[in-house]
Amino acid sequence: MKMITSSALIIAIALLSAPISAETDATVDLQDEETVDQETVAEEAVVEASEAVPAAPPTTEEIAGGMCAGCHSADGNSIIPINPSLAGQHAGYLTKQLMDFQSVDGETAKRNSAVMTAMVAALTKENMQELGDYYARQEVNHTATSEADEEVIAAGKILYHGGNLDSNVPACASCHGPTGSGLPPHYPGLAGQHAAYTLTQLELFNKGERANDNGVMQKVLSRMNALEKKAVSEYISTMR
Ligand code: HEC
Ligand code: HEC
Repeated sequence: MKMITSSALIIAIALLSAPISAETDATVDLQDEETVDQETVAEEAVVEASEAVPAAPPTTEEIAGGMCAGCHSADGNSIIPINPSLAGQHAGYLTKQLMDFQSVDGETAKRNSAVMTAMVAALTKENMQELGDYYARQEVNHTATSEADEEVIAAGKILYHGGNLDSNVPACASCHGPTGSGLPPHYPGLAGQHAAYTLTQLELFNKGERANDNGVMQKVLSRMNALEKKAVSEYISTMR
C-alpha cells in the first residue's frame, strides 16, 4: 500500500512538473520577443530624435508660468499666504535667494528649503538672473490682507518705524525703508508681503534655520519677542 502511494506520488510529480517547465520556456520565449520589440522601438526613437530639431530651452516666461506659477502665480503676486509674493521685489535680492537655495555638490543649500531647493536644481545662473529681472518688473497687486486687530497692527507700526529702545530692536525702517520698499541690492522690499510668510521667515532667522543674511537678521531677531514678531508681520502686510 505504502509503496504504491509513494510511486503514484512520484508519477504525479513528474506529470505536473513537465507542463510547468514547458510553460516556463514559453514565458522566456515571449520575454525574448518583447525585449527585441522594445529594443527596436527604442532604436527607432533614437534615430527619430537625432533627426528632429533639438527642443529649445524654456524661456523665462515659460519657467515662471509653468514651474513657479502654482505657488507664486505667473506674475509673482502669490495668492497663497505661506508662499511669498515676488512681484516688484528687487532683482538682485531675488537672484541671490535663488542662488542660495541651490545645493552645490550635494551640500545643504545656504538657504534651506526642501521645496525651493528642488525647484532651482536644474536652473542655470542665467535663468536665475532672468527670473529675478522678470519678477522685479511685474506689477504689484497687493494680494495680502490682514485680519489682525487694529491694536496689533498699530504695535507693529511703532516697532517697524521706531524699533524697541528697551530691548535694542532696531527700527526695521532703517534698513527696509520707511515705506517698506527696501534698498537694492541688499535690503529686500517688505511692503505688502503676506504676514504668514513674513512671520515664518522671522522664526527661521530666530532659530538660525535661515542663515543667508550674514547674521544681520538673526541679530535683530535675537532681541524680538513673539508678540513683536506677529505684530510687525501683520503691519508689513498692510504697507502699500
Ligand atoms: C510648491 C510651491 C513652490 C513652487 C512650485 C515654487 N516656489 Fe518659490 N517658494 C516657495 C516657498 C514655500 C518659499 C519660502 C521658502 C522658505 O524660506 O521656507 C519660496 C521662496 C521663493 C523665493 C524667495 C523669496 C523671498 O522673498 O525671499 C523665490 C525668489 C522663489 N521662491 C522663486 C521661485 C521660482 C523662480 C520658482 C520656479 C522655478 C518657484 N519659486 C517655485 C514655494 C514654491
Ligand atoms: C541692519 C539692517 C536690517 C535691519 C535693521 C532689519 N533688517 Fe530685515 N533684512 C536685512 C537684510 C540684509 C535682509 C536680506 C537677507 C538676505 O540676503 O537673505 C533682510 C531680510 C528680511 C526679511 C526676509 C524677506 C524675504 O522676502 O524673505 C524679513 C521678513 C525682514 N528682513 C524683516 C525685518 C523686520 C521685521 C525688521 C525690524 C524688526 C528688520 N527686518 C530689520 C537687513 C535688516
